Amino acid sequence: MTTLVIGGAGYIGSHVVRLLVERGEHVVVVDDLSTGFAERARGADLVELDVTLPDAQDKLAFHLHASGADSVIHFAAHKQVGESVAKPELYWHDNIAGLANVLAACASAGVRDVVFSSSAAVYGVPDVDLVTEELIPAPINPYGETKLVGEWMLADAERAHDLRTVALRYFNVAGTGWPDLADTQVMNLVPIVLDALDKGKKPIVFGEDYDTPDGTCIRDYVHVVDLAEAHISALDYLRGEERPYRVFNVGTGTGSSVLDVIAALSRALGEEIVPEIGPRRPGDPAKLVCSTDRIRETLGWSSSKSLDDIVESAVAARRGTPEATSA
Ligand code: UFG
Repeated sequence: MTTLVIGGAGYIGSHVVRLLVERGEHVVVVDDLSTGFAERARGADLVELDVTLPDAQDKLAFHLHASGADSVIHFAAHKQVGESVAKPELYWHDNIAGLANVLAACASAGVRDVVFSSSAAVYGVPDVDLVTEELIPAPINPYGETKLVGEWMLADAERAHDLRTVALRYFNVAGTGWPDLADTQVMNLVPIVLDALDKGKKPIVFGEDYDTPDGTCIRDYVHVVDLAEAHISALDYLRGEERPYRVFNVGTGTGSSVLDVIAALSRALGEEIVPEIGPRRPGDPAKLVCSTDRIRETLGWSSSKSLDDIVESAVAARRGTPEATSA
């Protein structure tokens, strides 16, 4: 089996590449290396290509043919909510043009199976205890909108071509499976807190007056290795016969508050963390926790790692200690 992984030199993509290589699959990584690193594609062939460019479709089709790929996993996209609000055109152009090129190249090269990175951002601010895939998506920022449109593009491409697709809606991804694959961007809570502490600053909690037990926002934090394994399950699902669903949540089903995450980091670091309480961040839902029923029952996937596993791996990778290898 050969899989072409677009964005495979990035944080999440490289974890999936590592698992695929470990199970003996031939992997071709396509990445423009704008945020990824070539070293992360170890064990795979690397093609440096920006899939948003007009000629990318033909180039992708060429590499799909040349490698004999039978499946594609598409990660490459912009993924910052705040940036998407400030630069909507960038998100609408790159996230959509990239996916359009990927789907057209798959159709012309006769590649059937496509796994797409979607996001819990498609749900917006749902007022429910657990978010199921049946909820009507209502994104509240351009990032989430491009992910939802991406899911529609997959459905349209399935109808038009001989394609089979799965969209995985990631909840809050964190942690590290291998130290060399650590999240080097400081965009999400765990790396933001670690970065603040490294700089001798207090991390800031965005609001403590939410209607939650400790007043801070609750999210569903999923370990990047668990998430990577969900992609392998999705590939196996596409390669099988039965295929009742095209969209799956990927999370743990357990919510942790911002203060829970900071307490877990404090345990992992062995030091007290005294955060500063700031104002609410606009657009933050009080609670976003995943219903895992569909993915567990259909793909047979469930998470195996706890919040402590997540933060311990992130701390270990940051310190370059060997525990970070124990994925
Ligand atoms: N937070 C703080 N202080 C910080 C940073 C974050 O209190 O310095 C809080 C946020 O308010 C939120 C939680 O920590 O309650 C997690 O925030 P992140 O920015 O790490 O993640 P989000 O839940 O906002 O967003 C994540 C992904 C998005 C994705 C979304 C889907 O980063 O890409 O989940 O729900 F769209």
